[in-house]
Amino acid sequence: MSFREDFSWGAASAAYQVEGAAVEDGRTWSVWDMMCRKPGAIYQNENGDVACDHYHRFKEDVALMKQIGLKSYRFSLSWPRILPEGIGKINFKGIEFYNNLINELLANGIEPYVTLFHWDFPLKLYRQGGWLNLASPQWFADYTGVVVEHFSDRVSNWMTLNEPQCFIGGGIINGHHAPGDKLELSQALLAAHHSLLAHGRAVRVIREQAKTKPFIGYAPVGVVKVPATETAADIEAARTSMFRMTDESYWNNTWWMDPVFLGRYPEDGLHIYGEKAPKATSEELAIISTPLDFCGANIYNGRETTVGPQGQPVDAPRYQGFPMTAMDWPIVPQSLYWGPKFLYERYNMPVFITENGIANCDWVSLDGRVHDPQRIDFTHRYLRELRRAAVDGVDVRGYFHWCLMDNFEWTFGYNRRFGLVHVDFRDQTRTIKDSATWYKTVIESNGKCL
Ligand code: BGC
Repeated sequence: MSFREDFSWGAASAAYQVEGAAVEDGRTWSVWDMMCRKPGAIYQNENGDVACDHYHRFKEDVALMKQIGLKSYRFSLSWPRILPEGIGKINFKGIEFYNNLINELLANGIEPYVTLFHWDFPLKLYRQGGWLNLASPQWFADYTGVVVEHFSDRVSNWMTLNEPQCFIGGGIINGHHAPGDKLELSQALLAAHHSLLAHGRAVRVIREQAKTKPFIGYAPVGVVKVPATETAADIEAARTSMFRMTDESYWNNTWWMDPVFLGRYPEDGLHIYGEKAPKATSEELAIISTPLDFCGANIYNGRETTVGPQGQPVDAPRYQGFPMTAMDWPIVPQSLYWGPKFLYERYNMPVFITENGIANCDWVSLDGRVHDPQRIDFTHRYLRELRRAAVDGVDVRGYFHWCLMDNFEWTFGYNRRFGLVHVDFRDQTRTIKDSATWYKTVIESNGKCL
């Protein structure tokens, strides 16, 4: 067995990073529009006002997807474009945009995978406390109801939240991401709990109201540990380390995944957070763990793990000059083997790689093309590992490359390029990179050429 015949080969994006049209046709600001106005918060004080102008150029972009041979496209919806007040009145111009995008995808044989929330929380609701407000799960459920009502006749693949570790940890613990707050840990954990409740409420709304049979998942960051050597001892150290918490850091899997897939917060996390942990009732945990159809994971790298002097898992030393991407993220292809494998073992759910990719130093060459051999090699190495997982019996259903095109890379502004398609932000010219042409051959052979 290699990749399944119906393997979902795709690329991903997120609304605020690509759409632009920030104040057009009734959209209001999200916390990210606000964040971009904080002097110094973003590289060169850039913002997503125009981004890739995908709002106006989606047809051209879908044509590019078709040219690359994508079978599926993961994108997120902008909550404040659909509901300018966050709740209540629907903005039908926003609905129309997504209807057109979905129809264009389907007309080109590309399956939509819709993420409900990729960080652009409506500013108006943030001003009422954001995820700290007890009503936030209800707000999210209502928003989901509107989405399902309008799109579920044609969309059946859903993801609720993208990377809660980042919008809670980065957003309200260290303040690096929008909305840029630094809350006390107990407050942040309460907000996190509400976001998990919002997830569960959304799953129920989709299940109850979808017009076509839904297929629902969740897209946290997979914080991956890989064995430093493939010995039984290191494998066990990596497995243990991947699913344990040793300090208050939000950078872990289990605090965000155990409640969703196992219906409980992890014991070690509860012990570490102590009084700061939310007092979750069994009813709440039942909502949070409403059954899903798949486990998504955004995986870019991993940490090599070995056995320490007391027998405990420890980070293995890295050699000098370890390969790094333009984000300064380590290149660890085995993370696409061990990540899905460990997640599958623990949660027993089909796995989708909902994001994976590399920021690289790309520009248009003298010959008018964009040569990005590093991205090809990176993706080649990672996909071979993912194939190894599939061969070893992990139920891997899909892979979404991050990103379809260069875009607004959050605090890095336009200074980091993750795309399969190059975007010249002076005039929005798109150029298919060599990696996109290569990815097409991978898709056509269903990964056999890897
Ligand atoms: C996020 C994307 C982001 C990418 C690269 C992920 O954490 O979901 O929105 O662009 O990583 O930083």
